[in-house]
Amino acid sequence: MPANQAETLGRETGNRPVVTRSEIVKGLRELGIEKGDQVLVHSSLSSFGYVEGGAASVIEALLEAVGTGGTVLAPTLTGKPSDGPDCPPCFDVRSSPAWTGRIPETMRNWPGAVRSVHPTHSVVALGAQARSLTAGHEECWTPCGEGSPWVKLARLGGKLVFLGVTLDCNTTFHAAEELAEVPYHLQPRPTRCRITDWHGHTFEREYLLHQWGTPRRFTAMEHILEQEGWLRRGQIGAARVLVVEDGPMLDYTVRLLRRDPWALVAR
Ligand SMILES: CC(C)(COP(=O)(O)OP(=O)(O)OC[C@H]1O[C@@H](n2cnc3c(N)ncnc32)[C@H](O)[C@@H]1OP(=O)(O)O)[C@@H](O)C(=O)NCCC(=O)NCCS
Repeated sequence: MPANQAETLGRETGNRPVVTRSEIVKGLRELGIEKGDQVLVHSSLSSFGYVEGGAASVIEALLEAVGTGGTVLAPTLTGKPSDGPDCPPCFDVRSSPAWTGRIPETMRNWPGAVRSVHPTHSVVALGAQARSLTAGHEECWTPCGEGSPWVKLARLGGKLVFLGVTLDCNTTFHAAEELAEVPYHLQPRPTRCRITDWHGHTFEREYLLHQWGTPRRFTAMEHILEQEGWLRRGQIGAARVLVVEDGPMLDYTVRLLRRDPWALVAR
């Protein structure tokens, strides 16, 4: 970029760093993202500084980094604290907005995007394994357990990427909580949810939903995962970036929570 253009952007953006798509690809490569990888991304667009092209550039960079054989996923969560048997959620896979940020929302509307069908914990995916990773979520009795994209990605050797956000938003820790059967993650009673699928077909089905209200301390895992060699840190623009090996992280956390179900609860 010519210096005068960068200066202009710098002024326009309050001197936040200006980040391009190719810089994001380079940053991801340095953190070990390779062609053929399956990556699930938790993100904050504003954390980069100013991204030329906005959320679309970040998604294009992720797709370029994993290549045509790879897959990019993002959480498109829709659950809220009031969800439960007395206030059942309605979910339309085609249109229900996610609260997980601009990048997942842009992905959700991306040509060819596939979103899993789940009333609270859906995932959007683009790329080679998008269909297989998202298929069957509607059959899962719990949000993040066996058969859900959250566990499937870990079993497939996937990676988790945190763009400007911390492990506090790592939904896959809830998968570990489910597999370890901790007593605070799921509601005690099922909720009959109303769901509309990709064909516009609406049906009702019972699920055990996420139980809100137990504060976690997931960032405590950062140091442990780094020591085990499963977490790398870097920076792209102003964004602090973490890349985590999903499978080893999940297995380790399940073992930890089986020993002490309260290990990651903030007391
Ligand atoms: C909540 C959260 C999404 C907020 O992050 P954020 O950066 O403020 O918001 P988004 O990622 O939605 O990006 C939109 C913001 O980027 C900024 N922005 C807009 N264009 C931009 C550009 N080209 N370059 C950089 N920033 C830009 C704006 O501030 C915009 O906010 P606005 O819509 O209010 O104007 C983030 O902190 C987070 O928690 N992400 C992870 C969520 C998750 O995965 N949760 C899982 C379960 S806990």
